[in-house]
Amino acid sequence: MLTHPEDIRLAASAQEPGIRLPNRSPRGPAEILRDFFPHVSLQGKRILELGPGHYEFCDLVQSQGGRAEAIELDPPVAEIGRRHGHVVHRHDLRALGTFDTNEPYDGLFGKGSNNPFWFYPDETALEAYILKLRALVRPDGWIWIVSCPYTALDLDARTFASWLDLEHRLYLRHGFAAWPVGDSVQGGFYGISVPCDGLRVFTFGLPAHRWSARSRLHLAAFTARRRASTLARRLLRP
Ligand SMILES: C[S@@+](CC[C@H](N)C(=O)[O-])C[C@H]1O[C@@H](n2cnc3c(N)ncnc32)[C@H](O)[C@@H]1O
Repeated sequence: MLTHPEDIRLAASAQEPGIRLPNRSPRGPAEILRDFFPHVSLQGKRILELGPGHYEFCDLVQSQGGRAEAIELDPPVAEIGRRHGHVVHRHDLRALGTFDTNEPYDGLFGKGSNNPFWFYPDETALEAYILKLRALVRPDGWIWIVSCPYTALDLDARTFASWLDLEHRLYLRHGFAAWPVGDSVQGGFYGISVPCDGLRVFTFGLPAHRWSARSRLHLAAFTARRRASTLARRLLRP
């Protein structure tokens, strides 16, 4: 969510239409931290985010005493991150293999900015990408990543499911754990877009996902609001 007029002005010329909307994803990072990172401190840690959008996660890292860096290709979006005090590397995520860092990171976060269907032409390339993610963090570091499978929607359902399966197998092969996102309400609660079944969050070096008592409570209210707005849209449809 962007509030500063200069950030809003910069975002208006972002390449991705969704990023142009100042209030596109007001939720996510705090809930993710609570349920995926219990007892994981960000204090003094150096964290890399892939495709940060409005920098909600980077800002949260900063507010908890960590240092956030991001990889972002789109110039106005990169500029927003610099304004927020983050180090932004202008680099194409489709060429992550050529991104280098002197010191491995303590953590790596990617929400909806990589895509198994158009980033990687085949299994070998996807596996190399996953190995690169591992190489970018310290052996005792962590990774939290979920794909954005939107551009795959024109694929037939079978091909689509087979890509998600392949992604799943490869992440597990390289030591990740998987959390099946469930449905669009559960995904939405964490600010994850869920256009299809079978989407998973992959984590490395983190405890298994656990719905905290607070999240359960908030999820109930969030679900009720979502249902009410879906119903209202249906009723108001001409
Ligand atoms: C769908 S948005 C996700 C934003 C944010 N992670 C979130 O969850 O709200 C994708 C982000 O990745 C950036 N991006 C898209 N393609 C990219 C690429 N090839 N290389 C680097 N950044 C890219 C976009 O500019 C945007 O910031």
